[in-house]
Amino acid sequence: MSSKKEGGDICFFINGKKVTESHADPETTLLSFLRERLRLTGTKYGCGGGGCGACTVMVSRYQPATKTIVHYSANSCLLPLCQLHGAAITTVEGIGSTKTRIHPVQERIAKAHGSQCGFCTPGMVMSMYTLLRNKPQPTMEDITQALAGNLCRCTGYRPIVDGCRTFCQEATCCRASGAANCCLNGDESTDEPEHEEPRLFDKEEFLPLDPTQELIFPPELILMAETGKPQTLTFRGERMSWVSPVSLEELVQLKTSNPKAPLVMGNTHVGPDIKFKGVVHPLIISPTRVLELFEVSQTPQGVWVGAGCSLAEVHSLLEKLVPQFPEEKTELFRALIQQLGNLGSQQIRNVASFGGNIMSAYPNSDLNPVLAAGNCKVSVISNGGRREVPLNQDFFVSFGKTSVKPEEIAVSVFIPFTRKGEFVRAFRQAPRKESSFATVTTGMRVFFPGGSRVVQDVSVYYGGVGPTTVSAAKTCAAIVTRPWDDETLSRAYDVLLDELVLPPSAPGGKVDFRRSLTLSFLFKFNLEVLQKLREMDVIAEELPERMQTQPLPREIQPGLQEFQHVPKDQSNQDPVGRPIMHRSAIVQTTGEAVYCDDLPRTDGELFLALVTSSRAHAKILALDVSEALQLPGVVDVITAKDIPGRKVRTLFGYDEELLAEAEVSCVGHMICAVVADTRTHAKRGAAAVKISYEDLPEPLFTVEDAIEKSSFFEPQRIIERGNVTEAFKTVDQVHEGQIRIGGQEHFYMETQSMLVVPVGEETEFNAYVSTQWPTLTQEVIAETLGIPSNRVTCHVKRMGGAFGGKVTKTAILAGITSVAAWKTNRAVRCVLERGEDMLITGGRHPVLGKYKVGFMNDGRIMAADIQYYANAGNAVDESPLVIEKILLHMDNTYNFPNLRGRAAACRTNMPSNTAFRGFGVPQSLMVVENMMNDVAVVLGRPADQIRELNMYRGPSVTPYKMEFSPENMLRCWEECKLKSDYSARRKAVDQFNLQNRWKKRGMAIIPIKYGIAFAESFLNQAAALVHIYTDGSVLVTHGGTEMGQGIHTKMQQVASRELHIPPAKIYISETSTNTVPNTCPSAASFGTDANGMAVKIACQTLYQRLEPIRKKDPKGSWESWTKAAFFEKISLSAVGYYRGPDLYMDWEKMEGQPYLYFVFGVCCCEVELDGLTGDYRTVRTDIVVDIGRSVNPSVDIGQIEGAFMQGLGLFTLEELKFSPSGLLYTRGPSQYKIPGVCDVPLRFNVYMLSDTHNPHAIYSSKGIGEPAIFLGSSVFYAIKDAAAAARSESGLVGPFSLDSPATPERACLACASPFTQKIPASKPGSFTPWALNI
Ligand SMILES: Cc1cc2nc3c(=O)[nH]c(=O)nc-3n(C[C@H](O)[C@H](O)[C@H](O)COP(=O)(O)OP(=O)(O)OC[C@H]3O[C@@H](n4cnc5c(N)ncnc54)[C@H](O)[C@@H]3O)c2cc1C
Ligand code: FES
Ligand code: FES
Repeated sequence: MSSKKEGGDICFFINGKKVTESHADPETTLLSFLRERLRLTGTKYGCGGGGCGACTVMVSRYQPATKTIVHYSANSCLLPLCQLHGAAITTVEGIGSTKTRIHPVQERIAKAHGSQCGFCTPGMVMSMYTLLRNKPQPTMEDITQALAGNLCRCTGYRPIVDGCRTFCQEATCCRASGAANCCLNGDESTDEPEHEEPRLFDKEEFLPLDPTQELIFPPELILMAETGKPQTLTFRGERMSWVSPVSLEELVQLKTSNPKAPLVMGNTHVGPDIKFKGVVHPLIISPTRVLELFEVSQTPQGVWVGAGCSLAEVHSLLEKLVPQFPEEKTELFRALIQQLGNLGSQQIRNVASFGGNIMSAYPNSDLNPVLAAGNCKVSVISNGGRREVPLNQDFFVSFGKTSVKPEEIAVSVFIPFTRKGEFVRAFRQAPRKESSFATVTTGMRVFFPGGSRVVQDVSVYYGGVGPTTVSAAKTCAAIVTRPWDDETLSRAYDVLLDELVLPPSAPGGKVDFRRSLTLSFLFKFNLEVLQKLREMDVIAEELPERMQTQPLPREIQPGLQEFQHVPKDQSNQDPVGRPIMHRSAIVQTTGEAVYCDDLPRTDGELFLALVTSSRAHAKILALDVSEALQLPGVVDVITAKDIPGRKVRTLFGYDEELLAEAEVSCVGHMICAVVADTRTHAKRGAAAVKISYEDLPEPLFTVEDAIEKSSFFEPQRIIERGNVTEAFKTVDQVHEGQIRIGGQEHFYMETQSMLVVPVGEETEFNAYVSTQWPTLTQEVIAETLGIPSNRVTCHVKRMGGAFGGKVTKTAILAGITSVAAWKTNRAVRCVLERGEDMLITGGRHPVLGKYKVGFMNDGRIMAADIQYYANAGNAVDESPLVIEKILLHMDNTYNFPNLRGRAAACRTNMPSNTAFRGFGVPQSLMVVENMMNDVAVVLGRPADQIRELNMYRGPSVTPYKMEFSPENMLRCWEECKLKSDYSARRKAVDQFNLQNRWKKRGMAIIPIKYGIAFAESFLNQAAALVHIYTDGSVLVTHGGTEMGQGIHTKMQQVASRELHIPPAKIYISETSTNTVPNTCPSAASFGTDANGMAVKIACQTLYQRLEPIRKKDPKGSWESWTKAAFFEKISLSAVGYYRGPDLYMDWEKMEGQPYLYFVFGVCCCEVELDGLTGDYRTVRTDIVVDIGRSVNPSVDIGQIEGAFMQGLGLFTLEELKFSPSGLLYTRGPSQYKIPGVCDVPLRFNVYMLSDTHNPHAIYSSKGIGEPAIFLGSSVFYAIKDAAAAARSESGLVGPFSLDSPATPERACLACASPFTQKIPASKPGSFTPWALNI
């Protein structure tokens, strides 16, 4: 760093240690400082934009004015290093470690099974830790608020919440500590259960929280704050300078001379702009030490709040003020409190400033509409003096611009008291309930003087319906001076509809939804105002209860997790079947767990950044790398010409180039890579590469485009059973329908990461890669470099999540990285940015499913003809296998006597899609279940009856002639109905719907039958290598990779049982191709089945070898036997090889045995849906799964819950948006919403079917990684059920179309409220929509 200090050092503390920094680069964040400079790698990089929480740390500061210390959580990826003067930072390493003591938060999250892959865990720990520092006995609401900004892709949050719940005072419920039957199960009985139910964890074991053990705030910082004379700090970096003034006067002077320089407070707006939009500010002014910006003062008219106050401070200030005044005076305060509670995440609110939010002028700012409606004003200062600027329509000039002049500084904001008869309300609707920018947000105020219902003043502002916060002035004019009644309001809706017009191709899309929300919010305001007028006796009519709208329920209650006991005669030492904690959970919670990018830099290491195509289909005319090569730190640019070996990968007869040479076929297609000394330099180099293109005609994006041009990857597949054509002639009714299922981004918390290190001799390479399939990575590196596989060793310690996305795409990236390592002869690291990862590596295939179904009036389905089109993208990848799996599951649990399914992988100019948990099955079943739903609706029967009627019964055979017994599936179905109290609740739902006009409940119960193992028989083999050392410690290596699914934990359990030693003596270090070669991918839910057998065989071999020694010395110990074995020359190392089942599928004959067995499950969900906004909450979920005898119930329940939540995301939340030219818009957590803690079902019960076994897999268990993902669809169908109830209010009956995901947008439009019906439909074809419907 070539930075130069011009005044003062930054002095701060990290984990109790003093850091003095005089050369801070203004572009350095605390996160990179921690990870790269201090090697504190526990704090993770997940997105870099404040959207995932993986980088959470605690910031503590001393406030001399109040002599108090404040602690708050913050995203270190947005905290500029230059801003840390005087702060004490605590990272996950600072609160506990395995070397000293672990902190109770770390212990409880680990022991409650809240850490799977562990990548999100340090962030979770720090959010919770900070909460406890401020409130040692938090409420559940505090916990869910604290965790709302922390994303986890693995666990489904329930175990994290349960671990944290143990700190709550109210955690006194009989089973809040993770056990089964409980008062909360609706079971009021207080009788003691006959026998103790097994628990997932035991709360009694936990260390107590002892606040006296925490790090103290450094006295030196207190002294510094009390006595030190603040001085201006100035820093210069490579591109930017930073000044931190200490007085308002100095600030004004600085701003006068540098009007374009931004004022950086929380850096939550400026930071992401620099990072993601490439904005460069030659000078940044940081006024965080200018005290005048933080002053608060009260006047008889209201309160002035310093513009520098954080949003969290404003929130607590207003909360403090509200009880001090009569209710009528604080209407505006309360509306702001409500918005502030929902804005961003806790970490964002803790740093983002009030003034920053206003001045950033986001079109969908949550505060500006309320501030404007509430007649607030901003006091600004410049060297011309002070002035007050009203926050009104004239304030918001254009996108991101206000009427405040560039040289002016906002000093404070005035929030007035309201008057008697004045009501203020705020509403917002967002893609996810929490930690998400709003789609539409609003502030509304009305004033009725002197007990009248005639409006004297009204003000309505919206965000999210244009480039600025907008005033609905005409609508207000239609209301003012009129009585607040139906006539006025119905005119107001019409005026509003004309006033706020969004063109059909408006940026952001969702045009009809956004327009309808503006109306719905005004309607909600109307209901609340009527209620108020009634309370004040201004009007006499009661608002019928049915018409009222209450907020959706939100408190997460303890759930149940039921699993089988181990047999009574099982030895206590034998861990199989017990809920053993993930073997790395503790080191994951302490931040000691090492992920690929945590590996220390090697000498001379380079970083690789990719250059990708900005065109969907074009010829590359020229590649100009000259400018990039001149930039500081850039070492080389790698193109296809540099590849010494194979430049392509061939799959199913299709070649895929590693780097495009002549032509690109999607936006995001990799073209070349820049290597440089640091990641920043590599990225700047990549941005400087110039490519000229010649567009090729007619890129294909949608499946419809591909069908029209017959653009498919061969082979296409068909399965037919019975005679479908004939059967259609004999049925009572025929129905045709279709459903479109959107794709899904893996969103593993750890992005694609790898480090390729040349050993230095004989073309030998070590590759440290986050991959599910080390052997494939090894092969691709070897082929690409043109060297034998024996020169490449691929090491995988663990992955921070994978979900199918770290197989083929990772291998290609590793191939490219290895070329750079080979060419430069230096170690090369490549870690994709979140946005790049999302752009380049594809995800789950979007599918269009069309069906024709023939059925009898009694509900029996006699014939079904289904056509699947999967959008495969520009390269074949594994798409032919995905469509095969789609067809092999299309019967789900139903015995359709005549069934035909066809599937095609469409070749388009989209990024190539790949494996994703479930591998096509969720899409396949979604189409079938939609068909079942339609049949039920056509017949006017409950959908569960139609499902039940058509289920397989007795000895059964699939459409591809595989025999199986559906008995356990039927047991799951019955048990799920029973456990969920289905019939009674169904009635209650119908009752609820009668009593509520605007909110509806819906229920659905959905079954699954999921085939386990690979139809490609060779992929079912596995091997393990087990070493016993002479001290008795055991090292197990096997072919499976650890991605959070707990395979190493289960392998440790297997080895423990077979060697008859405690798990603590067994260690698993990594998966590597030089220990266990020629492995298969950890995929298809088959990892434990295959590798477990291999480990078992190896351990049995060793145990038998030790038998003579044991016989000789029966009283000896494990250690004495192993030592003796060595002296007796008995090999203490063994390989276990498991051949795996011989499975096959003959596609010509349409028959086979592609699976070893089936996993069965049933899920019942109930949702509550707000028909006016499309917001919903999953009120309760009950899952019953047959997974045989679980090897580890906590791990398996974790897989079930995690997969369910991923399915909930797939089917109700996660939406990939592409521009009309094929560019992915949704390239980060701000735009792409995976489920958050706010999406956890309020009651989440999981039951493992009892008394079941599976003769086909290890210890009678079943694979469970993938199946439960489809169970998330029951939320979709419950939403559809609720929407059907809402539609019936509008007189709409019969089947209706609802595509997946059922986002609030789709759900709201499906409800067809009077407001959505007012929106005039735009003529298709008359405009270019903002986003493609792929
Ligand atoms: C992940 C994430 C989620 C978010 N979610 C929401 C949400 O749900 N709703 C919502 O409304 N917002 C949301 N935001 C936006 C956030 O509230 C704003 O970015 C924040 O309030 C800006 O404040 P800051 O102090 O961080 O601004 P900075 O980034 O420090 O500065 C922002 C801009 O404001 C100017 N500025 C700052 N202070 C002053 C001043 N005193 N006088 C003049 N100009 C000033 C700066 O010059 C700069 O141009 C989110 C942001 C992120 C990163
Ligand atoms: S890395 Fe900081 S919030 Fe995602
Ligand atoms: S455990 Fe949370 S992301 Fe993996």
